[in-house]
Amino acid sequence: MAFSAVQLIEMKRDGRELSPEAIEWLIAAYTAGDLPDYQMAAMSMAVFLNGMTAAELAAWTSAMLHSGEVLDLSSIAAAKVDKHSTGGVGDKISIALAPLVASVGVVVPMMSGRGLGHTGGTLDKLETVPGFTTGLDPERFRDVLATNGLVLAGQSETLVPADRKLYSLRDATATVPSLPLISSSIMSKKLAEGLDGLVLDVKTGSGAFMQDLDGSRLLARTMVDIGSRHGVTTVALITWMGQPLGREVGNANEMRESIDVLRGNGPADVLELTLAIAEVMLELAGIDGGREALIEAINSGKALQKLIDVVVAQGGDPAYVEDPSLLPMCSYQEVIIAPDSGYVARCDALTIGVAATRLGAGRERKEDTVDPGVGITLEAKVGDRVEAGQALARVHFNDPARWEAQEKSLASAWSIEEIPPPAQPLVLERIDQT
Ligand code: URA
Repeated sequence: MAFSAVQLIEMKRDGRELSPEAIEWLIAAYTAGDLPDYQMAAMSMAVFLNGMTAAELAAWTSAMLHSGEVLDLSSIAAAKVDKHSTGGVGDKISIALAPLVASVGVVVPMMSGRGLGHTGGTLDKLETVPGFTTGLDPERFRDVLATNGLVLAGQSETLVPADRKLYSLRDATATVPSLPLISSSIMSKKLAEGLDGLVLDVKTGSGAFMQDLDGSRLLARTMVDIGSRHGVTTVALITWMGQPLGREVGNANEMRESIDVLRGNGPADVLELTLAIAEVMLELAGIDGGREALIEAINSGKALQKLIDVVVAQGGDPAYVEDPSLLPMCSYQEVIIAPDSGYVARCDALTIGVAATRLGAGRERKEDTVDPGVGITLEAKVGDRVEAGQALARVHFNDPARWEAQEKSLASAWSIEEIPPPAQPLVLERIDQT
């Protein structure tokens, strides 16, 4: 049945509910190129302003999911579990997490994204290893997964083509931060992976999409409900993204720090979050052993070996994992200095993420390229004691003009107070399906 796009836009504009058939038609017509960008942009803005009912969200997600191929991984008998983060600064968790849980028996078909705006992307970090390819066709994706119990890839061209078009359009029309559009975009891609279980790391705080806890809770609950309605056991952890995770921000820097985690030398917050998510992934896969098995996999070198195996399987040079000092570095280094003595009360994720992006570590537009060596090493984070003149951060860059443009803004990321700030838990809440 054909609908009138103008009528559907009018209905949504005026707060009326669209039928599942209308939504199915709209997404199919847009994917096929029969509905122009300007009409979908108007529809996205109407959704942004008026939201969606639960029935609309279910129909929208399902139409997106079925706009392309849905992977069939049923030939792999074990439970397939993935993790998705809503994105943050210094969020390198996937790089150590995926080989860690795979090394204890979880099958992980991990599909990740690229950095956009102030948030980094797992693919850009993995690709700092020369030769490592993340663009795998479905056949190679299945092969690497079947052999290694793990694959680290980008979103395949054939999965959810509607989202590829719609996400770019939303990016250009200020309609990204809409709860139904974010949740349907993320969940349609995850559901197309043929998973049995999914752990969502929903960030909250200055570096997150949803900066307040209530918004993050609602996003988490919405995505958990979508997952469970589609038969994928889904659990969300709400985690703090007020400051960057770990001590490193930037692609090669974060790759090096992830390898440190697998060697047992990672920073405490990255290890804590990795283990918290890993435990839930084990639970969803029905694998016993919990935290002890995970720590044993790190201590024995089994988890690091799994990363090396998958790097080799995807064409990367394992020498760069064995000796991370080979990963790209920059020509210049400068330091941000503490103006006063005291305790770090703020080390702002958004300010640091924006500065890292503008120094060259990220993309402001999709077509930008990243400089793999650019990064920021955080020498002082929330709660740390610092003395005036001490380094708060070391900044690695290749373009001095960019450093000059970012220095002042980056320095504003830190606040120093006389008394230590209250302790801030990293994992705030767990949301299960009802
Ligand atoms: N990530 C996605 O994949 N989609 C969104 O809409 C937002 C973040």
